[in-house]
Amino acid sequence: MRGYLRNQNSGAGKEIDETDFLGPPGAGKGTQAKILTEKYGIPQLSTGDMLRSAVAAGTEIGKKAKSIMDAGGLVSDEIVNQIVSDRIDEPDCKKGFILDGYPRTVGQAEALQTILSSKHTKLDAVIELVVDQNALVDRMKTRVAETIAAGGKVRSDDNPEAFAKRLVEYSEKTAPLSQFYAKTGLLKKIDGMAPVKEVTSAIEKILH
Ligand code: AP5
Repeated sequence: MRGYLRNQNSGAGKEIDETDFLGPPGAGKGTQAKILTEKYGIPQLSTGDMLRSAVAAGTEIGKKAKSIMDAGGLVSDEIVNQIVSDRIDEPDCKKGFILDGYPRTVGQAEALQTILSSKHTKLDAVIELVVDQNALVDRMKTRVAETIAAGGKVRSDDNPEAFAKRLVEYSEKTAPLSQFYAKTGLLKKIDGMAPVKEVTSAIEKILH
């Protein structure tokens, strides 16, 4: 999880090399990753989206992941490390990428270091969206209502039981990454309770 912007002659004039967002379910990782992807033209590598696609396509990975995801648990490190490593090899990642929802365990963070090192790159910064946990269930409910209003399919893990489990998984397995990355000097914390545009501005200031 890291990122920075640097001066370039293309697109909006700046390019993100690699950025990664850390934060609990509903913190706004996907929202911010999508905004930066549209603005700077580099891909969002969301392990959640990749796994949901695998489930929808009925692949072997999707079959293994479905029941775990539906219950709000974490898919095995082995599976997500492999899909991220493979995804980074795709041509559109050459200019940089935004990691969204990965790594999620200390084991994944260690694997990511090895993966990036083998591809001759490294993390530059990790951005943690700091949020009030009490607001997250309401954000999930809003997303469900908006999805229904738009005629879309509600995520199978956007229900109170699975969401509660996702929050527990976050505190037990993912929150320790804040300390992990603080020790490396890469961690930057942002107020994720601010309005979306303000969060984006704060991220861009850090990445510059
Ligand atoms: P994943 O898809 O990554 O879900 P998540 O981490 O639970 O995160 P969400 O997508 O719920 O939230 P978000 O932070 O992206 O918030 P969003 O921007 O949507 O993972 C799903 C599952 O896949 C996992 O449970 C696990 O099973 C598996 N998985 C994925 N990665 C894995 C890994 N690395 N290892 C193992 N298993 C893995 O925003 C939420 C809502 O809030 C939206 O409605 C949005 O409009 C609103 N909002 C956003 N920002 C703001 C703001 N600033 N103010 C007000 N509202 C806001």
